[in-house]
Formats: sequence, C-alpha cells, structure tokens
Amino acid sequence: MVSEQEIRKAAELIKQGGLVAFPTETVYGLGADALNPPAVARIFEAKERPSFDPLIVHIASTESLDLLTAEHDERVIRLAEKFWPGPLTIVLPKSKIVPDIVTSGLNSVGIRMPDNEIALDLIRFSGCPIAAPSANKFGRISPTKASHVRKQLHDIDCILDGGPTRVGIESTVIELHSDGFVILRQGIITMQQLQEIIPHSFTATINKEIISAPGNLESHYSPVKPLYIWGEHLKDMDTKNAAFLSFGTIPVQKYKTIEYLSRKADLYEAAANLFEKLHLLEDSDVEFIVAEAVPETGIGIAIMDRLRKAAHQYLP
Ligand code: TXA
Ligand code: MG
Repeated sequence: MVSEQEIRKAAELIKQGGLVAFPTETVYGLGADALNPPAVARIFEAKERPSFDPLIVHIASTESLDLLTAEHDERVIRLAEKFWPGPLTIVLPKSKIVPDIVTSGLNSVGIRMPDNEIALDLIRFSGCPIAAPSANKFGRISPTKASHVRKQLHDIDCILDGGPTRVGIESTVIELHSDGFVILRQGIITMQQLQEIIPHSFTATINKEIISAPGNLESHYSPVKPLYIWGEHLKDMDTKNAAFLSFGTIPVQKYKTIEYLSRKADLYEAAANLFEKLHLLEDSDVEFIVAEAVPETGIGIAIMDRLRKAAHQYLP
C-alpha cells in the first residue's frame, strides 16, 4: 500500500505542476492542480484527449465548493451529505477561478469528492483541488489497477498504487437545473437513489436534443481487440480463438478462454470486474472477445452503457 510519505511526495509534484495517477473508489485518475492551466494542459497531452472534453475537479471538503462554484445551491449540500465522499459528480455553474482549460470553455464545472483515503490525502496535502480524468489514453479502457495506468501512460510523474479500485466504473455525472437534474453519465448511483434526494428529473437518461454532454461519445472504453455483445446473430461465429466474458446466466462452450464478470449474476461484482477483465483479455492471445449482456436494471444500466460504447464498432 501507499505510505503517507509517498502521498506527500506526490502532493509536492502536484504543487509543482506535475501529473500524478492516483486511485479513487471508481477508477484511477490522472491528476494535476486544477488551478494551474499548464499542468492541466499536460493531462490532455498525456491522454491524447481532445480539448472539448471537460475534466472533473476533485475536492476533499465541501468548503471548496465556495471557491469553485458561482452560486450556493441547497440541493448540492443535500446530495453531498448523502453521496460524498462517493461516486457522484455534480456539474455546477463555475466560479471565475476555474480555468477554461478544465471545463473546455463551458460555464460549468464537474465536481466530486472521491471515497478513497489516498485520493483525499493527496488533495489535502496538495492544498488545491485536483483535476483528474480517468488515467487511460482517450477512448481506451479505463484503469482499475496501477498496472493498467502503466500500460497506457508513460509521460507522467508518479503513480500511487492503492490496489484494485472498489467500484470499477466511473462516477455518475449529473447536472442540476432549476426544475430538476439530468444524468449525463450513468454510474453506480442510480436515478432512483438521486430522486430520493431531488424529487424532480426532467429526463431519465441523456436526451441528445435536450442536452449535449461533451465527452459522451458513442465509442469509448474500447479494447484493442474486437468486442461483441452476445446475441443470436453471433451463433454461427467461429469462436475457438475467442474469449467469452460471462455473467453466469447462459451456458458457454467452444471458446478458447472464459472469464467471468460475475459467476452469480451479481451486478456490483460485474461493475468492479468489467474494465479489469477487458484489460486482461485485450492483453491475452485471443482474437476477439464476446461479452454477455447484463440486465438493464439499477447499475446494470451503467454497465451496459460502458459495454455498448466499448463494443460500438461491432454492434449489430
Ligand atoms: O469516477 C470518475 O468520475 C473518474 C475518477 C478519476 O474520478 N473520472 C472520470 O473522468 O471518469 P473522465 O474525464 O474520464 O470523465 C469525465 C466526464 C467527461 O467526459 C464529461 O462528459 C463529464 O465528465 N463532464 C465533466 N465536466 C463536465 C461539465 N462541466 N459539463 C458536462 N459534463 C462534464
Ligand atoms: Mg474516462
């Protein structure tokens, strides 16, 4: 695990404008001082990320909301009490102090407080909010282990290895509006849980006509090998050199490799395993991957969102 001394060293690097990969409860992030534009520019460079895709700013205390946001919103406090630290990002009107490079020129900023002690200490010791996207190359599979970061990113100053992440998929991203909220990215925190805190929502999922979520591309999280989602249309495919990624509900045979998202159809386990298994299979000697779909209820919605984006090129 990571010692306090290592975290303090990493915090010094952040203060000097460096890039530090660190664990959160969702996936590993690639962090820089959110208030230092040249440092934030290095994130985009290291990830080969297009500049239209805004970054999430990570905080360790709700007091930072006053610094980063333009208005006080009572609903944010209620959401923070319930879900922070945790996998919820709230998009809010930004204050002038937040550089345009962080928000891709938008007037809003995405903020979250990660539920991971290493991440929280890094933010505290750095003394600044930390802008951090997932620590993968743009469009590739998100990292849930330090080794996944090492595989993809080379030009960074430090990786804090906190072991595998607990949740396994990225935070739920919501945007607040005067009459409710919109989910911009599905995650472990579901619409139903959010509605218990904020009763109104004017759309259940992203409606492209109402809202455009930058970075919400149809193709994302892709392994370097072809990935298919299992369906009848694949039944005559030759799979002897392929891998099957199972959710444990349909019988499989004639595959070179079988990996399990879950052996007992557990959605939380599947979320935690999804990116890890995709990394494992893209590095293995199979020619392509066939993944079993999971039921689209609760967090299954977020899992299928990631799976469809990863398989986008190969959807029927
Ligand atoms: O769990 C997570 O959220 C991880 C960990 C590291 O915190 N971070 C993460 O960041 O997944 P990233 O950059 O891979 O995805 C953030 C997404 C962006 O693609 C964008 O769609 C949305 O959050 N986002 C950020 N700021 C926004 C804003 N101001 N308006 C709309 N969407 C925003
Ligand atoms: Mg990402």
